[in-house]
Amino acid sequence: MTARSPAKRVHIKSYGCQMNVYDSERMADVLRPLGYGLTDDPEGADLVVLNTCHIREKATEKVYSELGRIKAMKLRKAESGGEMLIAVAGCVAQAEGAEIIRRQSAVDLVVGPQSYHRLPELIARAHRANGETLAADFEAQAKFDALPVDRGDTGVTAFLTIQEGCDKFCTFCVVPYTRGAEYSRPSGDIEREARVLAERGVREITLLGQNVNAFANDEGGGLAALIRRLARIPGLARIRYTTSHPRDMDDDLIAAHGEVEALMPYLHLPVQSGSDRVLKAMNRSHTTDDYLKTIERVRAARPDIALSGDFIVGFPGETDADFEATMSLVRDVGHASAFSFKYSRRPGTPASAMAGQVAEEVKIERLARLQALLEAQQRAFNADTVGRTVPVLFEKPGRHAGQVVGRSPYLQAVHCPGGLDLIGKIAPVTIKSSAHMSLGGERAMEIA
Ligand code: 5AD
Ligand code: SF4
Repeated sequence: MTARSPAKRVHIKSYGCQMNVYDSERMADVLRPLGYGLTDDPEGADLVVLNTCHIREKATEKVYSELGRIKAMKLRKAESGGEMLIAVAGCVAQAEGAEIIRRQSAVDLVVGPQSYHRLPELIARAHRANGETLAADFEAQAKFDALPVDRGDTGVTAFLTIQEGCDKFCTFCVVPYTRGAEYSRPSGDIEREARVLAERGVREITLLGQNVNAFANDEGGGLAALIRRLARIPGLARIRYTTSHPRDMDDDLIAAHGEVEALMPYLHLPVQSGSDRVLKAMNRSHTTDDYLKTIERVRAARPDIALSGDFIVGFPGETDADFEATMSLVRDVGHASAFSFKYSRRPGTPASAMAGQVAEEVKIERLARLQALLEAQQRAFNADTVGRTVPVLFEKPGRHAGQVVGRSPYLQAVHCPGGLDLIGKIAPVTIKSSAHMSLGGERAMEIA
């Protein structure tokens, strides 16, 4: 949904040296995509930034007295139903940090000279703290913002949302702004809903969340405890979850992959890039090494786990070497499937204002190479299943008469001769053929 908000006004006051004047311009640049226009008058502004100087004690005191004056303006605005955010930037912010808010509680955010690119994030967080959602000018692009669309109501599989929103603020992503703060549903409600689905004949549930493994379980134990609880529901044979963040793959969740039979051996764990430099600029809060170690631990718990992920090519500043690092990471890991995107500049996100935007033709070329590699890996993964007998949960009739379609534990579509009576049942299928997106097989007597 596109929410057009009225233009907002920011007043930026610079103290001290030329460096601060330059930084103030950079702040105006990152705020412009959020819909902020500059104003000379702090009275009535939506955001007031004091870009401070710490060179002398007197300069610092000047900032506090100015803050007192601006606080009065903030109160006047609040009386008329408006909101003014006050930010302190520059060297005083660097030197005094949170002390500023202790001394002057009207200050909403403190931002050091190294963090101006995070102003959109900090503003969103300040709005959240005041109980407001950000009415910034984001066109929420369904592709990135929305949760996966329903696979169609087959009656056999269902999605169940357990968590919404995101607190991670990856610099390319609109979700933290459009979907707001992380919120987890109460476990009891989730279990009740899962039981109703199971009673209606649902055999497989996919737990959904923008950051599903950050699920805050009101009864303790995180996502793993929820999975263990749902696994006890009669009739519910399969549990999946998506989308996860590498930082939130805790020990218990990893252990659950080895212990809970209903938890399917498939993990969608986006890493986005294979370059630590790019990951840092993306504010991903993990390195490639963290990710690889997590994968290693998951594989130790569940050796046959099928791995999936998301990748972005052409993030601002991505060099040929950075991209090659992504290719090399992909080669090292091996994927059962994956999604890959050209970086797309989302107004209002920090990355949209970063220098070093990558040319479209470079992005196209990199995406083509990455997708060719990922497709080859998917084909290889599928080919590896040929000759094996795997349990298939049948979901719907196939395209041809006398054929049914289901999914393997690894989320591969499996076509198989058989009657409609199979739908909703799990039966062993020996895989006979494989392609990029699907497998063909025949019913077998037992799993081998
Ligand atoms: N440009 C390209 N890809 C993006 N994604 C999110 N935002 C962007 C963007 N601005 C991708 C990420 C994420 C997936 C859901 O969408 O890879 O994991
Ligand atoms: Fe977006 Fe996912 Fe990053 Fe959250 S963790 S900001 S949803 S990419």
